[in-house]
Amino acid sequence: MNRKFIRGIRRKHPWDIAENEVTPEAVFRDRRRITAMLGLGALSASLPGYVQAGIFDLFGEDQPLFATRALNFTVNSHYQTAEQQTPYDKVIRHNNFYEFGTGKQDPFENAQKLKVNPWQLNIEGLVDKPLTLDYDDLYKLIPLEQRIYRLRCVEAWSMVIPWVGFPLAALLKKVGVSSKASHVAFETLFDPEQMPGQRNPLMGGGIHYPYVEGLRLDEAMNELTFLAVGLYDQTLSPQSGAPIRLVVPWKYGFKSIKSVVRIRLVDKEPPNSWHQLVPHEYGFYANVNPEVDHPRWSQASERRIAAGGLFNAKRIATLPFNGYGEQVAAMYQGMDLRKYF
Ligand code: MTE
Repeated sequence: MNRKFIRGIRRKHPWDIAENEVTPEAVFRDRRRITAMLGLGALSASLPGYVQAGIFDLFGEDQPLFATRALNFTVNSHYQTAEQQTPYDKVIRHNNFYEFGTGKQDPFENAQKLKVNPWQLNIEGLVDKPLTLDYDDLYKLIPLEQRIYRLRCVEAWSMVIPWVGFPLAALLKKVGVSSKASHVAFETLFDPEQMPGQRNPLMGGGIHYPYVEGLRLDEAMNELTFLAVGLYDQTLSPQSGAPIRLVVPWKYGFKSIKSVVRIRLVDKEPPNSWHQLVPHEYGFYANVNPEVDHPRWSQASERRIAAGGLFNAKRIATLPFNGYGEQVAAMYQGMDLRKYF
């Protein structure tokens, strides 16, 4: 007999975290409020998280998938890993992109019609030569390379993803950073007509939009910090942050802001959306750190999403700086990482 099944019920793995443990408290409370409003309270309380998310998709419609296209790139052999990659199908169906809903499948279901061409990315602020990149420039201004990185979400799941893009430092060098700049601020598209979570606070998780993020200048210039325009050999799908998103592999995933329209060089620490929403749970630095737990769950380990279902995902130990300490630890020498979490 399969020991996982006792009296016909699949035994919970120790890592089967309840949704109220990993969903930010404010968002979880809002969901309870909507289901109550819709008279679904008793029903939804007894349902698993993914079914609850489905309730919020009742008003969605069937639509064709966004068309991606193949990209030309070189493989950067410095940034590879022998770890099993997360299958494409999982990478594009398990997402956090609250502009399209707070459920993990909501971005896949609600983002397919996002218009990404034309697009404009402005690089401005404390720079010598401000620059506006149009859609086509994103793919040809800087030679594209592939890098395989681990992505560790603050919710304790992780993936291994072959990104295609270019280092942020290469773009910053093109605009010339002023000596007055100390930080870089990033901003996602603000378009409530296209992004239902921006016009409906309950769907958008209470975030004050546009979604914003920030890095210290040395972090932005670090060799690992990457602007992705594709994954698995093709352009990004909207749910992954098309047409261009940040990837900062040693930090929790919320730093990796999607669908970026503005990069601004500034002279003080810029705001970041999750810190604004719940300051005692999400910091500015957000460096992956197995020794500093989230107030509501442990960060010592993670579920690696690979082949197979989410809940068959292997539980593995979380590494300091997500395993990239050699490249980044020196930037934080002498800092109390419990205080600057
Ligand atoms: N960017 C925007 N604009 N909106 C978001 O909700 N979610 C963040 C980050 N970037 C988010 C975002 C979080 S919490 C994570 S874990 C990653 O995107 C998830 O990236 P993925 O969906 O490609 O795995």
